[in-house]
Amino acid sequence: MAIFPGVSLVCGVRPRSATGGRRHEWSSAATAVAGGALGCDTALIGIGLVGFGYWGPNLARNFAAQADCALLAICEKDQRRAEVARRAFPSARVTPEFGDLLDDSAIRAILIAVPVAAHFELACRALSAGKDVLVEKPITATVAEAQELIRIAEENGRILAVDHTFLYTGAVRKIKELVDAEALGKIMYVDSVRVNLGLFQSDVNVIHDLAPHDLSIMDYLVGEVPQSVQAVGRAHSQDDHESVAYLHLQFPSGLIAHFHFNWLAPVKIRRTLIGGTRKMIVYDDMEPSEKVKVYDKGVVIKHSDIDSIYRTIVDYRTGDMVAPKLLHEEALAVEARHFLDCIDRRTKPLADAAAGLRVVRILEAAEKSLRGDGRRIMMGSHD
Ligand SMILES: NC(=O)c1ccc[n+]([C@@H]2O[C@H](COP(=O)([O-])OP(=O)(O)OC[C@H]3O[C@@H](n4cnc5c(N)ncnc54)[C@H](O)[C@@H]3O)[C@@H](O)[C@H]2O)c1
Repeated sequence: MAIFPGVSLVCGVRPRSATGGRRHEWSSAATAVAGGALGCDTALIGIGLVGFGYWGPNLARNFAAQADCALLAICEKDQRRAEVARRAFPSARVTPEFGDLLDDSAIRAILIAVPVAAHFELACRALSAGKDVLVEKPITATVAEAQELIRIAEENGRILAVDHTFLYTGAVRKIKELVDAEALGKIMYVDSVRVNLGLFQSDVNVIHDLAPHDLSIMDYLVGEVPQSVQAVGRAHSQDDHESVAYLHLQFPSGLIAHFHFNWLAPVKIRRTLIGGTRKMIVYDDMEPSEKVKVYDKGVVIKHSDIDSIYRTIVDYRTGDMVAPKLLHEEALAVEARHFLDCIDRRTKPLADAAAGLRVVRILEAAEKSLRGDGRRIMMGSHD
């Protein structure tokens, strides 16, 4: 199913390599030489994962479940987590040494699920060792790091993807379909709330933690880069990391986007309004089934000159609401299949490193604005 220019998401069983080429020979002898832990089918793509904390197990489970893939190794430096990994994936080799994954020629791609500060170093090493890479969001801690990763990936002819998980949800794919079909008309605003209680992160503030989700969704849907970024926030814990923050973006087309992030909310809210000139969407990720509602609502403003008195007439349009049917497959399963397909066909991922960089640019500008107490940061033009 084509959902992005030049990119396709494979929703059924992934076809074998178009070249019919054999990717690996994993006889038991070859396994021993390669240091891999599993004898497997010639067409399997060998995967290594680094980081088996909170998110890593989700990647492991979804990749291990793919028919054309073998999770060969897990690198985890914490002994307790390594033991959990060993029990959950007994056929994978568990090691504290990242170098073991790099040295294993049976491993073609590495998934990186460690804290953001370590993304750059591990991704650099993996790409330089000739592995394709899927990095967790945000792709890196800084713009300079993301640019350097893109350079290294290109130099080595490697695929570099970022885990912008929400792009693979049925809800966001449906909204994208509606946007592309121009069902909403011109998008006037995006207004989003992502709040809950707790899950304080020790290494990043609430914007770095939560905004990559909304920014990646927005980037995907509107396909436009903001011209300015403003952010305000406050820290309420002992460290200096903001736990409540508001992010405001303005775009060349006139689109404005506003985001509210909060680790101190009494309830969990994941709601986005997308206002188009024709139709409007409420995307509520907390809804069990009808996550996307499309409203045929709007206003038509007419000006009339009666008795030389300038008057404004507002017509309200209140049509139907429809809740389109969504695909309910787990986003990470769709994403895993898509990444494996990109490896197989050497094609650009839906969430490639350039998408990761665009999100990090906004995060970096937001950080600058936060430090300047909400100063408007102009984004300039980027290639
Ligand atoms: N896509 C999503 O929806 C989503 C959700 C949560 C977290 N994440 C991302 O996943 C990444 C990890 O987050 P988390 O919450 O799982 O963190 P975590 O701290 O729970 O887990 C990280 C694990 O990596 C291990 N680790 C760190 N450095 C290592 C190294 N050099 N070698 C081996 N093991 C190492 C740690 O011991 C830890 O077990 C972050 O980038 C985060 O932003 C993404």
